[in-house]
Amino acid sequence: MSPDAPDTERPPASPRTTRRQWWIFAALTPAVAVGWLLVMPSAPVAQPAVFNHARHSALACVACHRGVESRARATLPVVSDCAKCHATAPPGISEDQWKSFSGPQGFGWVQVTHVPDHVNFSHRRHVASGRLACVSCHADVGQRTTPPGTAPIRVDMKACLSCHRQEGITEDCAACHR
Ligand code: HEC
Ligand code: HEC
Ligand code: HEC
Ligand code: HEC
Ligand code: HEC
Repeated sequence: MSPDAPDTERPPASPRTTRRQWWIFAALTPAVAVGWLLVMPSAPVAQPAVFNHARHSALACVACHRGVESRARATLPVVSDCAKCHATAPPGISEDQWKSFSGPQGFGWVQVTHVPDHVNFSHRRHVASGRLACVSCHADVGQRTTPPGTAPIRVDMKACLSCHRQEGITEDCAACHR
């Protein structure tokens, strides 16, 4: 809201209130600017390695996202999920990198789609019971040639509720919030 938005309810401002409003405005401007910087979308994430979903489109999603049909978390893959086809480092990844990915740290893939901790979300529920396609919540990630830097679709409360309303699924706060 702009601080000088017309306000028809208020009596004509005296010079003093005008001056006071100016000071409030002057004091708030930097605070609003800082606040804006804090809520601005963060920079795109950099993944630890190249990955091309389209090259792997013959595989079922669950081959690399092992939890997606059976658990809350879809999970991101580990080297043993790749080793069946890539006994050595695949093109674009150095042998040294591949060796370190095989160690206890794993790949270190960064999850870009998140809900906050107070939200209850289960892949099993949506994919196995609800029979929803991945594309309804993740757009084209499964067909991409490079990792998305940010979540391609914002999964916020509005998006959850609009599908739930459409499908006649619960809109009860306690179903989604713990
Ligand atoms: C109803 C919406 C919805 C559907 C359908 C859905 N996802 Fe998700 N997905 C989400 C949300 C929300 C998150 C973030 C969850 C979190 O923060 O715990 C997520 C996160 C993920 C992640 C990040 C890693 C993790 O452990 O969760 C992967 C990978 C993923 N989804 C893959 C898939 C695949 C593959 C499918 C289809 C088989 C699928 N998703 C279907 C909404 C969905
Ligand atoms: C079922 C077999 C299979 C599995 C499992 C598999 N890949 Fe691949 N991957 C392939 C094939 C086939 C190619 C294309 C071969 C080529 O271009 O030389 C490929 C290509 C690649 C490339 C090169 C991509 C490009 O653009 O040329 C990378 C990087 C890669 N895979 C990474 C992985 C990772 C990481 C995993 C595990 C998370 C994995 N792959 C699992 C079969 C597989
Ligand atoms: C060969 C392994 C492999 C297969 C098969 C695979 N993925 Fe992935 N997926 C990955 C890797 C590695 C990442 C992390 C890097 C990236 O984002 O590209 C990832 C990331 C994702 C994410 C991003 C999660 C987040 O953080 O938001 C989604 C969504 C996803 N995959 C969906 C799919 C879908 C849908 C399919 C099936 C059509 C699929 N994947 C098949 C390996 C795979
Ligand atoms: C594209 C449609 C769609 C979206 C988007 C969606 N859901 Fe759902 N949700 C469903 C369907 C369909 C079911 C019913 C699944 C079943 O039959 O068990 C469901 C079920 C649920 C349940 C279980 C409800 C119960 O009665 O116990 C919870 C919790 C839930 N969703 C949370 C979420 C959250 C949180 C989000 C957003 C991050 C979300 N959903 C986004 C379609 C959706
Ligand atoms: C279908 C799932 C779903 C239902 C039902 C739902 N929420 Fe949410 N809610 C979410 C998700 C996902 C988020 C986190 C993303 C966001 O902030 O939009 C959220 C965020 C919120 C936040 C913001 C918290 C923050 O971190 O700023 C509040 C407050 C909230 N919900 C209250 C409610 C209330 C009250 C109800 C019942 C009238 C409700 N929600 C019903 C999914 C749901």
